[in-house]
Amino acid sequence: MIAKTVFAFALLYLSCFQIVTGVSEREVASMLLADYQKEGRPVRDPTQVVLTSLDVYVIQIVKLIPRRQVLVINFWLVQRWRDDFLTWDPAEYGNISTIRLGSENIWRPRLVNYNRQHEEGWSELPDTNAIVRSDGEVLWTYPITLRSTCVLDIARFPFDVQKCPLKFGSWTYDSLNLKLVNISTTGNIDYFAANGEWELLSFDLEVNEVEYSCCPGIPWDDMTYTITLQRRPKFFILYLVAPSVTFSLLTVWGFWLPPDSGERLSLCINLLLALIFLQQGVAAYLPDTATNIPLIDVFFVANILLVGASSILTILTLSIHFKCFDLPPVPNWLRCLFCLDQSDSSTYRVNAPQDNNDGAMDAFFATNGSNPAWRLVRRVKKIIRQLKEEQEMMTNCLKTESEWKILLGKIDRCLLIAFFIALVVITASILGPNK
Ligand SMILES: *[C@@H]1O[C@H](CO)[C@@H](O)[C@H](O)[C@H]1NC(C)=O
Ligand SMILES: *[C@@H]1O[C@H](CO)[C@@H](O)[C@H](O)[C@H]1NC(C)=O
Repeated sequence: MIAKTVFAFALLYLSCFQIVTGVSEREVASMLLADYQKEGRPVRDPTQVVLTSLDVYVIQIVKLIPRRQVLVINFWLVQRWRDDFLTWDPAEYGNISTIRLGSENIWRPRLVNYNRQHEEGWSELPDTNAIVRSDGEVLWTYPITLRSTCVLDIARFPFDVQKCPLKFGSWTYDSLNLKLVNISTTGNIDYFAANGEWELLSFDLEVNEVEYSCCPGIPWDDMTYTITLQRRPKFFILYLVAPSVTFSLLTVWGFWLPPDSGERLSLCINLLLALIFLQQGVAAYLPDTATNIPLIDVFFVANILLVGASSILTILTLSIHFKCFDLPPVPNWLRCLFCLDQSDSSTYRVNAPQDNNDGAMDAFFATNGSNPAWRLVRRVKKIIRQLKEEQEMMTNCLKTESEWKILLGKIDRCLLIAFFIALVVITASILGPNK
């Protein structure tokens, strides 16, 4: 019984001893942070440079906001550096070789994204844990959603490729104090989640040393990751390109309708409305800048101008049709410009019989004017002359009208040819191979 009790006490004592001598991570942490100073670089020799490696994983493209030229993107940032003041001997501390410390408690390189665009300012860093190894190696990773400026080039919309540079570096440490090193030649895309609107073409890395005008002679390191995105055009082909091509074909066909039919006017107005509606749809995908006008917009504007010109022409033709007598003759310069000659209106010339003996008749009336029979004849003659004058006026009017119509027809033809050439050129440059 006594032996058993002694044995039990011995066991209890042994297990207590174990608990007391085993070192917990908390003890390592409090030992490390006891008089840790997180300001000042973590090197014992102040002339030494802190080597910091940075690796950027692109995870997801959240969105590209065209109006504000902002790219919202999810990253994982992986930073590694050596902290001379976070070392211990694992053999003395229960074989604990790594420990997690709240990153806000230790020195951090405070790398920032230079072209970051954030409402809340850019000082706050996520306080995830850092993994500290017993030899002082610190690994700090965190996920971050960045809003970075990205100047869009929308000249080839919707077949555009966007390059967004993301510049990372220390804001205050120059490269003599903190040196950035890359651990690979490109950014990491292993965990990239595909985006419906954008296709990731590449994620390139460039390591730079730049001197800023503030501080001549002092180089600053930065790592510039360039993300290259290509828009997936299917959606836009379906919703913008296909209807706009249909509308422009309709515009071409519209020129086949005779301008003096009212149908053409209503077709033009409908096309105009549809085109303006589509153009507004495009505007939502474009930044509010005028530096670069996308070709598809040029296409719309060309279409709208042409349909507008066609409507004006139709209105003119219709108005000419209904007010023949107030028409001025076609000005000579227009006649020259469109090579109009008299023969164009010959179909409307009425060949009235020419009587050359007018003079003789008048002389005869003058001498025999008093005879009532002759007076009747004279009246009939006057009426005939009036009728002839009227007919001549009518003929002139028809002639002017037909001339105007021929002129407008020629303008119509010129517009059609100009439009067709413009359409082919613009379509070729939109779909052309010079991407
Ligand atoms: C630490 O590891 C060494 C070798 O692996 C081993 O001999 C020793 O017992 C360990 N110490 C503790 C406290 O676990
Ligand atoms: C770092 O980047 C440079 C070029 O930017 C490249 O030549 C070098 O190989 C990269 N370093 C590593 C470790 O990949």
